Amino acid sequence: MEKLPALADLAATEEAILGGTTARRGDVVIARGEGCWLWDTQGRRYLDLTAAQGVAMLGHCHPTLSQAIAEQAHCLIACPNFFYNDVRARFAAALRQVLPDHLSHVFLANSGAESIDGGLKLARLATGRTGIVATMRGFHGRTVGALSLTWEPKYRKPFEPLLDVTHVPFNNLERMDAAVDENVAVVVLEVVQGESGVIMGDAAYLRGVEEICRERGALLMIDEIQTGFGRTGRWFAHQHHGLRPDIICMAKGIGGGFPMGAIAYTEAVHQALYPGAHGSTFGGNPLACAAGLAALRIYREEQLIERSAAMGQLLLERLNQALADRTAVREIRGLGLMVGIELREKVGRYLKALMEEHGVIALPGGSNVLRLLPPLTISEAEIEVGVQAIAAVLPD
Ligand SMILES: Cc1ncc(COP(=O)(O)O)c(C=O)c1O
Repeated sequence: MEKLPALADLAATEEAILGGTTARRGDVVIARGEGCWLWDTQGRRYLDLTAAQGVAMLGHCHPTLSQAIAEQAHCLIACPNFFYNDVRARFAAALRQVLPDHLSHVFLANSGAESIDGGLKLARLATGRTGIVATMRGFHGRTVGALSLTWEPKYRKPFEPLLDVTHVPFNNLERMDAAVDENVAVVVLEVVQGESGVIMGDAAYLRGVEEICRERGALLMIDEIQTGFGRTGRWFAHQHHGLRPDIICMAKGIGGGFPMGAIAYTEAVHQALYPGAHGSTFGGNPLACAAGLAALRIYREEQLIERSAAMGQLLLERLNQALADRTAVREIRGLGLMVGIELREKVGRYLKALMEEHGVIALPGGSNVLRLLPPLTISEAEIEVGVQAIAAVLPD
């Protein structure tokens, strides 16, 4: 048999062993990244307008981040949580500084879904109640707890029965009002629904949900996994609306791309904890904490939160100008560098054309939204490359 070329080898090997759960984009094998750019094994360059699914917020391989990880890797990689650790303590203090004042305590985890599952446990513990309310079109991850909150039937149906969760329509206060009774421990929502297509929560709705929670003794848990760390132009999206959630879940940008998750919560929630209430072997490991510590320094030093707001504005303006006369476009919306272009048809073929014809990588949001989550370090020139490519592939 003829020997397979190297590219087909790697893609085929990965697919044969690891395949089955993820739809791939052709047989592209990504091998290197720098800033907003990725390179495949054949040397082709791509503009990454997804920040590797919203995590590489500082750009790929930010030198300060890479150096911090490398240095820590030579010092200490694993440290059990029954010991204190110098980097973990420093990271905790740095994270506490960027969190809203009332979220005074943190549990360190490894991913978004793990943070969500932990948040549900904390809410049940703190309230002594079991009920959970989430929103339609919400996405919170795919572990059993997180999947119970996730609405999309395609993801959840085969795994039912899941946790008992009441799903109510997003941005509908009446239905929320009817769903939250004295048995509800927690209401979980995103301020901007990402996976469903960058759907903005109305300010009045979000404040109304918080009021309902307060009135009925339920906790408000906000999923900041995609929206946190400057994605929307504030440290956390709920800050746009002056909300005071009892719990927030974080991941994606927290370690600048290094795998990490966290749950932040109030003193009242903290009061319910006891040793063994929750745990995670890898959570808060020194390598992740060193990455997190460096990432937080970079967000601040490079003023990336403010930059996200400014560059997001520019991206929206340029998209609006470039796509002004397109009937195929129903709406362009965004908050900071979280942007959705809603089309009148399915988005799949345009994502393919963007990558294959223009070397630009974007994400879907729902079935008909082209979603952009670029690194917060994106330049004006890179925005222009992206806008021109999008304008070239979208139809009239
Ligand atoms: C809003 C939101 N919540 C939860 C998750 C799940 O995070 P993870 O994939 O790290 O488990 C995601 C991932 O895309 C997300 O966007």
